[in-house]
Amino acid sequence: MARIECPECGHVIETTGIVSICPKCKADLRGVMEEVGHRRERLRDVARDDSVTTHEFIVRTKDLQKIYVMGEVQVPALQGVELNVRRGEYLSIMGPSGSGKSTLFNMVGGLDKPTKGTCFIEEVDMAQLDAFELAWLRCRKIGYIFQTFNLIPVMTALENVTLPMIFAGMSSDEMMDRGAMLLDLVGLGDRLHHKPYELSGGQQQRVAVARALANNPAIILADEPTGNLDLQTGKEIIDLLKELNEESGVTVISATHDLKMIDVSDRVVHIRDGQVERIENRADLDLDVGTLGSEKKPELGG
Ligand SMILES: Nc1ncnc2c1ncn2[C@@H]1O[C@H](COP(=O)(O)OP(=O)(O)OP(=O)(O)O)[C@@H](O)[C@H]1O
Ligand SMILES: [Mg+2]
Repeated sequence: MARIECPECGHVIETTGIVSICPKCKADLRGVMEEVGHRRERLRDVARDDSVTTHEFIVRTKDLQKIYVMGEVQVPALQGVELNVRRGEYLSIMGPSGSGKSTLFNMVGGLDKPTKGTCFIEEVDMAQLDAFELAWLRCRKIGYIFQTFNLIPVMTALENVTLPMIFAGMSSDEMMDRGAMLLDLVGLGDRLHHKPYELSGGQQQRVAVARALANNPAIILADEPTGNLDLQTGKEIIDLLKELNEESGVTVISATHDLKMIDVSDRVVHIRDGQVERIENRADLDLDVGTLGSEKKPELGG
């Protein structure tokens, strides 16, 4: 819970989320919010024990477990996942439907809580954060991309991309400039004012990629980003993510069934029944990709 005071009317607001307008006098609270968020972040830095590690791993999970309870039935979706993700890595998570990929994403992205075990983002134990700190971390550190794009239909591309910036306290001018820059970066400089239904699937996913980059996150979590796209468009999105990963050093973690993702990945984590089955490194992958390619050829030809 964060406690902020409106600089205009003195109204005190206790909040677990991010509030940009004073509910009483409608004053702009983004500056105050920004200050509180950064103060909390500094406090966390002080509390963090850097002697243990120098943050080689941007994400670490320890014995991560998730059991969904549905009445009498318990569904063990994650059964002790141990995963270390290096800063700047491009990691693909593969596994059959129902193996726990999205569940793992929800835990790492702070969208849901594990039943047992821990997830660290930059060595911050997410379970130790209060609701406000979690909202701050999600807003600042993580960009999300989903299979179904999840854009807001009544908003233009530019408005969709700038929305997370409002929560991060950016000024209007900055937001417009950065939003246009990001849309340009993903090849949509001439589509700023189009609404999602006026864009193709691939273009909508590009808007979602730009939106994920809004607050310059350290991590992009992409849950089957090419799942709803045709082969060629899917490849373009993968190339775009890879380019961002290489040029800006953003860590990309992507759940996928898509074999095209393998050859851009530094490592591929195979998940089965809520557990890490095996992890393949880039060097081993090159061989495998060759095999997969030659296996696929007759299928494509036929
Ligand atoms: N909210 C929920 N409540 C109950 N069970 C759930 C819930 N979400 C997922 N599950 C179950 O947990 C298991 C893992 O699901 P999850 O969505 O993580 O799989 P996935 O690997 O992402 O699959 P897909 O490739 O189809 O997206 C499945 O057995 C699923 O039925
Ligand atoms: Mg899924």
